[in-house]
Amino acid sequence: MATETTTIFSPELAARFDKLVTQYPVRRSALIPMLLYAQDEVGYLSPAVIAEVAVRVGIKESDVLSVLSYYSLLRTKPAGKFNVQVCTNICCMLRGGNELFEHCKKRLGVGNKGVTPDGVFSLEEVECIGACSWAPAVQINYDFHENLTPESMDSLLEDYRAKAGK
Ligand code: FES
Repeated sequence: MATETTTIFSPELAARFDKLVTQYPVRRSALIPMLLYAQDEVGYLSPAVIAEVAVRVGIKESDVLSVLSYYSLLRTKPAGKFNVQVCTNICCMLRGGNELFEHCKKRLGVGNKGVTPDGVFSLEEVECIGACSWAPAVQINYDFHENLTPESMDSLLEDYRAKAGK
């Protein structure tokens, strides 16, 4: 386990991780929550984050990489302050998800997994985010937004831009 002097995380997060691995029957079960907490603190899952998490849960870095490649919530590159995830899976697609994603691309001036030059937004096309009944749905960081249209998406993006003070 990383010690306080070798960890790349804040003392608070390192202490949280020390406790987290004791709360499961096997250490590796702490992997997903640990990756999410680490991503929240660091901004993305850098090679240094992956290396330390692997040591903490007692698995190989390649095993961490194979797990995080499966989850769209986990990222290995820096995202914008607000990460806009647009669902284009079947329910959302039938209710304008693809058009909404194309609209976001134009509006933000970036492609899939792109980050705006001011660092405020990143954009991602994702699979079902579990909000099918309110399609088309978008997740921005941990918040869901539903029944969106290009017009309501514009005003949502403006609200977030205002939050960023830009
Ligand atoms: S298909 Fe978009 S939320 Fe389920």
